[in-house]
Amino acid sequence: MSEVPAVKSMDAIMALCKRRGFVYQASDIYGGINGFWDYGPLGAQLKKNLRDAWWQDMILNPAWGRTGPNGERVRCVPLETCIIQHPKVWEASGHVGGFNDPMVDDKETKQRFRADHLQGAFPRADAAFADIPLCTVVASTSGEAVTQLLEDRRLQKQLGLRGVERAEVPADLPSPPGADALLMVDAGRARALCWVRAVPMPALRADPAKIPSPFTGKAGSLTEPRQFNLMFFTYTGAVFNEDSKVYLRPETAQGVFIHFKNVVDSSRVKIPFGIGNTGRSFRNEVTPRNFTFRSREFEQAELEFFCHPDESRDWYIFWRDFRMAWWKAIGLAGENLILREHEQDELSHYSQGTSDVEYRFPFTAPGFGELEGIAHRGCYDLTQHQTHSKVKLDYFDTTRGEVLPNGGRKGERYIPHCIEPAAGLDRGALALICEGYTVDPARPSPEFLRLHPRIAPIKAAVFPLVDKDGMPEVAEKLADTLFRRFGHTGFIETDAKQSIGKRYARMDEAGCPYCFTVDGDTLKDQTVTVRERDTGQQQRLGLDAVPGWLGERLSR
Ligand code: GAP
Repeated sequence: MSEVPAVKSMDAIMALCKRRGFVYQASDIYGGINGFWDYGPLGAQLKKNLRDAWWQDMILNPAWGRTGPNGERVRCVPLETCIIQHPKVWEASGHVGGFNDPMVDDKETKQRFRADHLQGAFPRADAAFADIPLCTVVASTSGEAVTQLLEDRRLQKQLGLRGVERAEVPADLPSPPGADALLMVDAGRARALCWVRAVPMPALRADPAKIPSPFTGKAGSLTEPRQFNLMFFTYTGAVFNEDSKVYLRPETAQGVFIHFKNVVDSSRVKIPFGIGNTGRSFRNEVTPRNFTFRSREFEQAELEFFCHPDESRDWYIFWRDFRMAWWKAIGLAGENLILREHEQDELSHYSQGTSDVEYRFPFTAPGFGELEGIAHRGCYDLTQHQTHSKVKLDYFDTTRGEVLPNGGRKGERYIPHCIEPAAGLDRGALALICEGYTVDPARPSPEFLRLHPRIAPIKAAVFPLVDKDGMPEVAEKLADTLFRRFGHTGFIETDAKQSIGKRYARMDEAGCPYCFTVDGDTLKDQTVTVRERDTGQQQRLGLDAVPGWLGERLSR
């Protein structure tokens, strides 16, 4: 088995994000608001670079110009759709009926958790595994709860768990009153040791007053389970009632399905093709946590790729593999990234496959957290919208059907199948920051960010060695040249103050890949020093060669 890399400190990463202007808590000066995060100057540019990279590689030059399983270049077009749509969209998509979790509140601690889910009983499972996070599971199952939990794979899946094992009770670990067993629970996002107090689920529904709270251990403080819809809602117009109620979208995907016909009718796309949509989505997550990983407002980048049903499995594999290669190419290569194919019994009835690209975040280690899901959605969504809107959403394919005497084809009418690579840009940005975060006490900046040049918010810095002797003027001129050439991809920094070591250190911490320094020799031989962030190595380069040298590296 390969060795698991050391877990990085999430507290240190969050501190760097705030200190250097990557991420701030939303409404910070008012004490923050749970589940919402804002991006500072460097974070906003980093996220834009990530979005632009997605747009470039999924819409403008899809899959880096590779040919698809049909032997042709992949074709995709963009859309930009509203956050608020007709409420029937969310009825058709299943979000009004199905986006519900039964929730129980602890009146004393004000904690809320899912009644049918062990997840709610993981309040301390986010801590580093070494700290042995402990929690008490209140709602498990009926009958021989512990045995069933250990053996019943179906039940484990229902509870969102990857695995459950009985754990040795360490001699120095006091067991809480009423605990039946100590279990090692793998919840994907986190592994945790859990004291389990087996309580039949029906009992929780029947009499919550008798159930001890997983937070305090006391009975009587839990509410009845209540349905809780994850969609935020508001009202349109002046009258606030059920008729004017509208939802904030919980995903960007539905904006694509409802315009499938419009795109086919108004552009020259032919099956197979994709439609991409990026933007903010909103989910009233019950337990937002782990920094930006589970937020209530977040940004998605989704592609809905439509194809003939017979080719859909091949396209699913194509996109699954490309998406994994893409995340690697922008800096997540290595053991921290995996592609997890869902097992057959995890799939929806209409799906022929789903995989998740998962990253080992410091708060999930040694487990992984989802960055992107690639789903084969069959013809489910177009069929749903066709039924609910009563508008035909099928496609007439003139390249199929029997061959006619004139050499043409009779054509075939069908509802296309859809392959959906659905990425989260906030999780992507967080994974890139966590992956890049490096501690090396031997360097002038003991913490620095190894961001991929394509994603780094600062592309280059130009420094005069000292703020005199004609050096600032040469540095300004070089910075201006670089700004004109690369300013649309990120910041070009200049700074003449402090020692050169301190200036390098500041750039390392912000993830700037290259620094160019103008010194006494520059004035004589028209060369500058270029210093690379990751190695600290320096070399001389002709002033004229700098734009080409940098351009080559930024486009890798
Ligand atoms: N249309 C399919 C769909 O929305 P999803 O797995 O629910 O699928 C896709 O979401 C991606 O959106 C996830 O892989 C994740 O990166 C991101 N995402 C979902 N919920 C999120 C949340 N609460 N906070 C941050 N990102 C989230």
